[in-house]
Amino acid sequence: MPSVPNVLLLVGDAQIIAEPGDTVLSAMQNAGEKIQTVCKGRGICGACRVLVDDAFFNRLSPPSTSETRMLRFLRSREANQDEVNHRLACQIVLESRLSGLRITPDPIVPKAPTLRPPTQEIKS
Ligand code: FES
Repeated sequence: MPSVPNVLLLVGDAQIIAEPGDTVLSAMQNAGEKIQTVCKGRGICGACRVLVDDAFFNRLSPPSTSETRMLRFLRSREANQDEVNHRLACQIVLESRLSGLRITPDPIVPKAPTLRPPTQEIKS
C-alpha cells in the first residue's frame, strides 16, 4: 500500500513533520512547540491564532463561518485592526499539498485600556 507523504510545517526555526489530517495545533503540540489553547482545539477560544505566510494563505481551505466570526472578533479587540493572514491553528487541517506551510503564532494584543474621566470630582 503506498504511504501518504508527510507534511512539513515550519514554525519559526522549527521544522515539524506532521501527518496529513493533523491540525496545525495538534502537530505543534505533538512536536512540543508552544502554542496557546484554552478550548483544546474546539475553535471557540481564539487563543491559537496564527499568522500564515503569504505563499500559503490562499491555498488553505476557506475558514468556516464560526472561524471567520472568531477571527473578526479577535481583530476587533486589537489595537492594530489591519486585515492580515490570520487563521486558527486548530482549524487548519494539514494536507500533503500544504507541505512547507509556514506559520507564526500570533496571540492577540489587546487594545490599550480606555482612559475615562473620573466620575466624581477629586477633592484635594
Ligand atoms: S484552540 Fe481554541 S480556538 Fe483554537
